[in-house]
This record gives sequence, structure tokens and C-alpha cells, in this order.
Amino acid sequence: MELLNNHAELRTWRQQFSSDHKVGLVPTMGALHKAHATLFLTARPACDQLLASVFINPLQFERTDDLKAYPRTLEEDLEMLENLGVDAVYLPTPEDMYPAGFATSIDPGESGVQFEGAARPGHFAGVLTVVLKLFQRCRPTTAYFGQKDAQQLFLVQRMVRDLDLPLTVQACPTLREDDGLAFSSRNARLSAAGRQQALVLHRALTIAQDAFQAGERDPRHLEAKMRECFTDSPAKLAYADVVDEITFKSANASETPAGHAWRALIGARLEGVHLLDNLPLGNP
Ligand code: PAF
Repeated sequence: MELLNNHAELRTWRQQFSSDHKVGLVPTMGALHKAHATLFLTARPACDQLLASVFINPLQFERTDDLKAYPRTLEEDLEMLENLGVDAVYLPTPEDMYPAGFATSIDPGESGVQFEGAARPGHFAGVLTVVLKLFQRCRPTTAYFGQKDAQQLFLVQRMVRDLDLPLTVQACPTLREDDGLAFSSRNARLSAAGRQQALVLHRALTIAQDAFQAGERDPRHLEAKMRECFTDSPAKLAYADVVDEITFKSANASETPAGHAWRALIGARLEGVHLLDNLPLGNP
């Protein structure tokens, strides 16, 4: 496995492969866990070359305490990537990614300032800016993203479409622990009690899913059911919304076009850690 420490090393590595080579990219911020492993396991058989990026992107953290507290486990990450058959890892420094004078950023539009974007102002501009730079530098045929970050996935797919970027974005299903907690690098920052309390996110989403399956078609009622779960929880709810997953707009029963499914989203803060999760509801 090759380690590419800057843009120049990445460029030299990438130049070896002609345009008919399938290059897969899994962008990460490190602190890798089983859900990341499934992205690599999905990508590996489909690609001639499999590239990972590990970069804690300062632009997408609106809070410096959150950036500082983000887990850093590079040694273990590299061992895991090697075992997963990754060919090369791009490990840029902030200076390599954002040289002095860097000033341009991607505007995610209206859907980037709602839900997760409202809870974390500027977050998606930071995400899209780094993702576009990674796409430009790595020139992948396919990039792999997890559905746990449903809004991020939506915005990346829309950016690829809007800006005619020559790659495919592949969505990979959310991986959960046996009790339903979605794998996340941030779970490592929770205490044992916090880890148990975090189950409220999945519980609330499941209640919305069950109610939808039982025939509830008022998105505001579904949202109220999710909010109720947080009444006695130490987790502070940031948002609980039902969206049309094609437009990522707040769902509205009378205005949902045929074929547009709904998705329930939740973001909450627990023990100073921002957690998020989502579940598909289905076609209303
Ligand atoms: O999902 C993540 O880990 C990050 O947002 C990403 C896509 C690697 C961009 O920094």
C-alpha cells in the first residue's frame, strides 16, 4: 500500500493509470471502523485501483472543540486499510489541501442549510469544498459514501450532477451494531452510559418507521413522535425531520410526487458529541 503524503505524490501515482482503469475512492476523516470497512469491501471487487483519503477537514467543523476532539487513530487506520486491500492512501496536510491564500468554497444551496446544515452552520460548504478538491485531485471513476450521512450523500450527488463531474457516486447502506446504534467515529467519544443513551436516535427513527408502516402519512405527526422520545433523554435534539429523499425538502403529503420516498432524519447532541442517523420510510 502506497502512502501519498501530498498532492505531488498523489498526481504521480494517479498518472500511471489510463482512463480505462477503474479507480475507486473512499474519502474518510480516519478513525476508521466497521462501517468504513464495508465501503472498502464494496469498492474493492469493482475497482482496478482502490484509493483511500484520510483527512480531517478543518473547513467542515464549525466548532474548534469538535475539530480538536475528533479521534485520530492513523496507525490503526493504515493497518486496517492495508488488510482491506487498499492500493494507496492520500494523507494530505491542511497546508497541502488549502495552500496560503485559499479562499473559494462551494455553496451547497438551500438544502445545505437545513437539518444537519442548520445544526452545524457552514458544515456542508466545507464538506463539498473538500470533496470537490478530492475528486479533482484523485480523479476517481467511482466514489463511495455511506447512507448514514444521508444529507451529505444527497449534496455530493447533486454537486456531481450540477457540475458535470465525470464520476459515479455509489451509496452504501448504514452499518449498525446489534442494538441498532449506527457505527460512527464519534461513538468512541461517548462514555458507556452515553453509548446506551445514544440508542434514543435509532429508537425514535424506528418509531417513525413503524408509524409510517401502520399508515401515518402526516410528516409533522411522524416528527412529533420522534421528538417525544427525547423528552426524558439527556440527548439534546437538534432536529427530527421527515424529508422527500429525492429533493431533500421537508416532506409534505399532498405535494410528494409519485415515486418520491420519504426518509426520517435525526441529529442530537449527547455528552458534547454530535450524533446523527436516518431511516427510510417508504413511498407515501
Ligand atoms: O463523511 C466524512 O467522513 C467526511 O465528511 C468526508 C466526506 C470525508 C469529507 O471530509
